[in-house]
Amino acid sequence: KNDQELHYLEQLGVVPLVTLHSVEEAVPLAQALERGGVPVAEVTFRSPYAIEGMKRIRDEVPGVTLVAGTVHTVEQAKASIEAGCKGLVTPAFTEAIVDYALENDILILPGTAVPSDVDKAYQKGLRYVKFFPAEAYGGVKTLKALNGPFAEMKFLPTGGVSLKNAADYIALKNVFAIGGSFPVPSAAQKAHDWDAVAQACKDARAIVEP
Ligand code: 3PG
Repeated sequence: KNDQELHYLEQLGVVPLVTLHSVEEAVPLAQALERGGVPVAEVTFRSPYAIEGMKRIRDEVPGVTLVAGTVHTVEQAKASIEAGCKGLVTPAFTEAIVDYALENDILILPGTAVPSDVDKAYQKGLRYVKFFPAEAYGGVKTLKALNGPFAEMKFLPTGGVSLKNAADYIALKNVFAIGGSFPVPSAAQKAHDWDAVAQACKDARAIVEP
């Protein structure tokens, strides 16, 4: 079941990070992602509107696959699944959330930055993880180095990924998709310029498309 969702993210190649500034913008923003050819949203818990926004997207933009981002607690994980999320992304390797996801057969992409994090995920049987903060922790160079001892692991680099370096990341064989806020430029989001968001998604897609 999770294989299907992972395969879908792998096909899309890019996972936009969405931090909602209001509940009302959830639907037009999600529709812009869909129009831009990237029908997936990692809605983060950095905003108090996350849960309500997820529910709106679930109900009104069903073509967009929801994942929860910046998940810090099992309570947030549970609430996001109830609100329609198909997976969980955490900034760190948080064992309680990983265990909750594994016990409940929920897709989990835990944050890893260094070999000891990657190994914790490996020991849990996970083969797909987030690599965060990607640029600050060595970016492409670090991912290439990790491929030696962790050749089975596939990464979602996030943190400082942009249209500028997206091609370098997606070219790596141990990168299954790239993530970040760049498909939702903050100026466009603030201005409610949803066409600009759709265009940023198209630009991102053009780079990651096989
Ligand atoms: C994350 O939580 O994945 C990152 O903070 C996203 O970083 P970005 O804004 O540099 O894409």
